[in-house]
Amino acid sequence: MASFIQIVKLKVLLFVIALLSSSSVAVFASLANSENGQELEALLKWKDSLDKSSSDLLSSWDFSPSNDTSPCDRWFGITCDKFGSIIHINLTNSQLKGTLQNFNFISFPNLLSLDLSNNSLYGTIPTHISNLSELSYLDFSANNLNGFIPESVGNLANLNILYLNNNQLSGSIPPTIGNLTKLTGLHLSLNHLTGHIPKEVGRMTSLTDLKLPMNNLSGQLPAEISNLTAMKILLMGTNRLSGYLPDRICSGGLLERLSVHTNHFVGPIPKDLKNCSSLVRVRFEENQLIGNISEVFGVYPNLNYIDLSYNKFVGKLLRNWGLSHNLTSFKISNNKIVGPIPAELAKATNLQILDLSANQLAGRIPKELGGLALLFSLELNDNKLLGSVPTELGFLSDLAKLNLAANRLSGSIPGQLGQFSKLLYLNLSNNWFTGKIPFQIGRLGSLQNLDLSLNLLTGEIPSELGLLKSLENFNLSHNQLSGYIPTTFDEMLSLTTVDVSYNMLAGPLPSNIAFRRAPAEALEHNKGLCGNTTAMETCRTMVKKSKGKLSKKVLMSIVAPLLATLILLFIIAATLFTRSRSAKNMIETREQEKENCFTIWGFDGKLMHECIIQATEDFNSKYCIGKGGSGSVYRAKLPTGQVVAVKKLHELDDDEVANLKSFSNEVNALTEVKHRNIVKLYGFCSHAKYSFLVYEYLEGGSLAKILKREVKARELDWNKRIQVVKAVANALTYMHHECFPPVIHRDISSNNILLDSEYEARVSDFGTARILNPDSSKLTSFAGTVGYFAPELAYGMEANEKCDVYSYGVLTLEIIMGKHPEDLLLSLSLPTSITTHRISLKDLLDHRLPPPIDQVAEEVVFTAKLAFSCLHTSPQFRPTMQQVSHQLSAQKPPLLDPLDMIKLEKLL
Ligand SMILES: *[C@@H]1O[C@H](CO)[C@@H](O)[C@H](O)[C@H]1NC(C)=O
Ligand SMILES: *[C@@H]1O[C@H](CO)[C@@H](O)[C@H](O)[C@H]1NC(C)=O
Ligand SMILES: *[C@@H]1O[C@H](CO)[C@@H](O)[C@H](O)[C@H]1NC(C)=O
Ligand SMILES: *[C@@H]1O[C@H](CO)[C@@H](O)[C@H](O)[C@H]1NC(C)=O
Ligand SMILES: *[C@@H]1O[C@H](CO)[C@@H](O)[C@H](O)[C@H]1NC(C)=O
Ligand SMILES: *[C@@H]1O[C@H](CO)[C@@H](O)[C@H](O)[C@H]1NC(C)=O
Ligand SMILES: *[C@@H]1O[C@H](CO)[C@@H](O)[C@H](O)[C@H]1NC(C)=O
Ligand SMILES: *[C@@H]1O[C@H](CO)[C@@H](O)[C@H](O)[C@H]1NC(C)=O
Repeated sequence: MASFIQIVKLKVLLFVIALLSSSSVAVFASLANSENGQELEALLKWKDSLDKSSSDLLSSWDFSPSNDTSPCDRWFGITCDKFGSIIHINLTNSQLKGTLQNFNFISFPNLLSLDLSNNSLYGTIPTHISNLSELSYLDFSANNLNGFIPESVGNLANLNILYLNNNQLSGSIPPTIGNLTKLTGLHLSLNHLTGHIPKEVGRMTSLTDLKLPMNNLSGQLPAEISNLTAMKILLMGTNRLSGYLPDRICSGGLLERLSVHTNHFVGPIPKDLKNCSSLVRVRFEENQLIGNISEVFGVYPNLNYIDLSYNKFVGKLLRNWGLSHNLTSFKISNNKIVGPIPAELAKATNLQILDLSANQLAGRIPKELGGLALLFSLELNDNKLLGSVPTELGFLSDLAKLNLAANRLSGSIPGQLGQFSKLLYLNLSNNWFTGKIPFQIGRLGSLQNLDLSLNLLTGEIPSELGLLKSLENFNLSHNQLSGYIPTTFDEMLSLTTVDVSYNMLAGPLPSNIAFRRAPAEALEHNKGLCGNTTAMETCRTMVKKSKGKLSKKVLMSIVAPLLATLILLFIIAATLFTRSRSAKNMIETREQEKENCFTIWGFDGKLMHECIIQATEDFNSKYCIGKGGSGSVYRAKLPTGQVVAVKKLHELDDDEVANLKSFSNEVNALTEVKHRNIVKLYGFCSHAKYSFLVYEYLEGGSLAKILKREVKARELDWNKRIQVVKAVANALTYMHHECFPPVIHRDISSNNILLDSEYEARVSDFGTARILNPDSSKLTSFAGTVGYFAPELAYGMEANEKCDVYSYGVLTLEIIMGKHPEDLLLSLSLPTSITTHRISLKDLLDHRLPPPIDQVAEEVVFTAKLAFSCLHTSPQFRPTMQQVSHQLSAQKPPLLDPLDMIKLEKLL
């Protein structure tokens, strides 16, 4: 009955307001007369105080004269009790921007929960928050609140949950917080809190969940923390805490997650941890803790993750660790652990990461470790391990990182290591390995880092190592390798640093940029390397020199003219020979080319072939306008006056030529692909000597070139860049969703985006990767450009549309930043990426352009956000190109923050 009357009262009131047709003063005045009205008035007042850019989610908060539904049912985020009084306010994720200063908390005597998390609220938390006397749930996390945590929160006696994490709060944790004896969850992580943790924390005996990581808290932990017997999750990593840990930390026997890493704790670890069998995740790394690990740790059946690295633990590894069957990560690097690696460790069959590096472990590597089928990172480096590498390690088929460096391992390097198809990092340096480098190493197709330096390796470098197409860093220095560096190394296109010093190598350096740019120290102390680098004598002068040494001056004066004559004769003979050869070739190839040329503009294949050879003077370099992974591009003006771009593919071996033939139908199909943002493919020619594709010619050049040149890059202003981003999205949408079968580009990069004279973008080179590599499950060197690959390709996944989406994400960031985002992507992939998250977007934008403003700024921010979504490591979470195009053409949301306030974390 009472509730009925309440509602009637409210409705009558609203009706009256409607009649008065509401100046807001009148509304507030009349509302103030009713109990609920006071609450509604307070909400409206607060709404009015919010920044104008706040979301329109609160548009339902009004008194529409024609709407007689109660605000309790109509207002967004509001829940009332049966008397019409507000009990829940939930405005999470609502893009609200403003302060809490005008939130009249005293008007909500019955409020139970207040969730304003994940908005853009700023300013301080008002003291009168304590007026919410009934409140049990308070969540202000993920805003920009600053100032202190008010002491008055201690008066919120009914509070169960207090989440203030991820703000800019400073000052210390008020001791009054100890009054919150009903509190179960307290999250204060990711703020700037200082001072010590008050001992009053020990009074919050209901606490199950205390999270304080990533603040600047200092001082010792209060011993009272031992009294928190309900505790399940206790996190305080990355602070400046010091002193001893309390004796007891698992006193309730419920502790699951304990994290004190990256602080200055000293002394032993809590005694009761030995029997704390509830533990699931434990992080002690980066402190100065001491103790004998074989005594202080017990058996933890639920343990999933433990990191004890960078402390001062001593003692042996017990076989007990193998009884933690759920253990996936075991890290204890940089301590003083002695003794052997127990073979029983291999019983922890879920292990994925095992890091025992930088200790004093001795004995052999147990062959049983080969049974850890899920292992993807094994680091045993910097110990005193002896003996040979067990061939059983070859069974670790998921291994991505293997570091055995700086031990005393001996014998030959087992060829079985060539079985790690996913290996990215292999370091065997600084051991006593002897014998040859096994040629099987060349099968490690994903390998990016290979270090075999500081061993006793002999023999020649196997030419198979040239197959390591993803290799970036390569060190063979300080061995006894001899012979020539294989010419296959010319093809190692990813290589950036190389060191072959201190060997017995001779002969010419590979024509590979890493060798050409190598500093002298990386090549010195060999038998006779030569090449055209600053650090090296050219091969010709080397030959002269050694000849000079051998022959005497007198002899030289006779031999030299003779030699010169011989050479001259030889040159004449050779020229004649090659001429007749090439004439013969011409005839042969002309026979073949008819079948293999395709054209859609009236020429027959033979004619087209001839025209192009003539127009480019047999592919003279003066017509070359660009080079890419799969070939060089020439500009050819045909007799008809038409200008075309001709892509001459690198010389192919017999297998590949065979493939070309079998895929000629597919090429023909590609000539059917027509879209205003796709470069037209006119035709294709292949035979033994030259294979080339004929494309529409665009005078604007490639995006890569434009971004590299200061003046051109400035001409490509923000509007034009946005247009390029949209054009590429449209082209890819067409290929993926409107062609049948879908065309996967597989090599989206700034080199393959061409612009016409009006800066309209066109995608070129689509489908080339597929023609050249029909076995699509394989990743070869020219299927894609380094730096644009989707990560799953490195793991041998089949290329699909989502790989293009990834490359598109990289390309889009490149357009916005004016350069390839490799450093950004790398730092985002690191564990320390949290600092990268706080970089402002504005700092990443191409500084050659003035910062975008107004609508353009909205477009840029939106585009950046979309680009990051394309870079999701899991392909299934990336949007499709159709979704990308759709979003790009939709109305962009207005910016809530000025550009320099937008941090990367808001976009990721
Ligand atoms: C009242 O507002 C609610 C929610 O905003 C809406 O669904 C309803 O149609 C409105 N009623 C009238 C009569 O306007
Ligand atoms: C607020 O709403 C969100 C989503 O609607 C929900 O996930 C969250 O649990 C709610 N908060 C509270 C305190 O009920
Ligand atoms: C935060 O809110 C935004 C919308 O404002 C939403 O897209 C995002 O998913 C939210 N984040 C979390 C962690 O809920
Ligand atoms: C409301 O909060 C203020 C500031 O903490 C306090 O002084 C005042 O007594 C409170 N009023 C009530 C009724 O709780
Ligand atoms: C709250 O805590 C403070 C400091 O710990 C104490 O002085 C005060 O009496 C407590 N208030 C209540 C209501 O318990
Ligand atoms: C822990 O609680 C007990 C009572 O349960 C009390 O006697 C003791 O003083 C408390 N210890 C600390 C350090 O607060
Ligand atoms: C091991 O992990 C699985 C899945 O996470 C879980 O279901 C199981 O209970 C755990 N086993 C133990 C002994 O904790
Ligand atoms: C050596 O390199 C320079 C520039 O790197 C080049 O101009 C020159 O032609 C090269 N000489 C030979 C003999 O390859």
